[in-house]
Amino acid sequence: EMAEKGGYEHFMLKEIHEQPEALRRFLVGRLNDESVHLEELNLNPEEIKSYSRIFIVACGTAYHSGLVGKYVIEKLVRIPVEVDIASEFRYRQPLIDESTLVIVVSQSGETADTLAALREAQGRGAKVVAITNVVGSTIAREADEVMYLRVGPEIAVASTKAYTAMVMAFYLFALYLGQIRGTLDTEEIQKAIAALKQIPEQVKWIIENTESEIQKLAEQFTKHENAFFIGRSVDYTVSMEGSLKLKEISYIHAEAYAAGELKHGTLALITNGVPVIALVTQESVYEKMLSNVQEVRAREAWVIAVALEGDEEIKKSAENVLYIPQTMELFTSVLAIIPLQLLAYYVARLRGCDVDQPRNLAKSVTVE
Ligand code: G6P
Repeated sequence: EMAEKGGYEHFMLKEIHEQPEALRRFLVGRLNDESVHLEELNLNPEEIKSYSRIFIVACGTAYHSGLVGKYVIEKLVRIPVEVDIASEFRYRQPLIDESTLVIVVSQSGETADTLAALREAQGRGAKVVAITNVVGSTIAREADEVMYLRVGPEIAVASTKAYTAMVMAFYLFALYLGQIRGTLDTEEIQKAIAALKQIPEQVKWIIENTESEIQKLAEQFTKHENAFFIGRSVDYTVSMEGSLKLKEISYIHAEAYAAGELKHGTLALITNGVPVIALVTQESVYEKMLSNVQEVRAREAWVIAVALEGDEEIKKSAENVLYIPQTMELFTSVLAIIPLQLLAYYVARLRGCDVDQPRNLAKSVTVE
């Protein structure tokens, strides 16, 4: 088994470290300097122009990738996107028809509720595109079209490399749609492609530059039983995924909050020493986010910020800062999650948890 883990103590750590290579593989053949190529999806341009609405349906971590997808597609393509948890979608008679595109996301391609949602959508006349990792899985076979993640087998129950590839899939898909529907001009597409090409190397940089610091932070973190993750815009969606990672494997109770919503309840729980992980990567809401950080600092929370390289200001308000490299504002999610994956991993390990096989959880849930 040690050989399978490639020298790492756990599959999860191995899979975190595999991300630069996995994301590189994900991009191969799907873009050149000028344009995005997703002809593998066999969607004809007329059809792409006809969509009036998109639904993204998934469970767990895959659902969180869909939340990123919503922000990115709405911003770049200007089509309304709804994101739904598969076990909710399938029972609520969703309002979909032939002009709705449904995207289901599933690492395993076998999650029962996601599969049922796919069938429900097809039954209502919608086209279904699947984003999945497993070739030949039930969802891959039943969907109308498939985009594969190509990250290799993911063994740890807590998803890492599949999540970052799903997020990349949404970036590419949004650019592809924008390219065809004409909401993006050539220059915007080229700029976005240049940013995407740097992502694998930037992920590598983050791992190399934050891992040892996170190991130290983890020692202080283990004694806590509660933590909060806050962010705005796409950072809010990353907060949710970071919070889930920590809960799943360390059993620390964690909650993710849209930072602007804190004062409507959660602030009552922020007291001396409570860890608050603040995602501060969005320039358009930077000042607002900074004041949320100051709000929790004023209540003596322990603030760990994830911020963009070059942001010195945040150091005045956060005790610890984990830096990620600069990229386009919409593309930070795939980078900002990396330190949170590492934090969850090292905290869980120090707490003696079974990192790869957390209690009560399964890699793939094939019951409804
Ligand atoms: C299980 C796993 C999660 C995963 C979810 C959806 O709950 O423990 O890590 O995100 O299923 O899995 P899928 O294979 O559909 O992405």
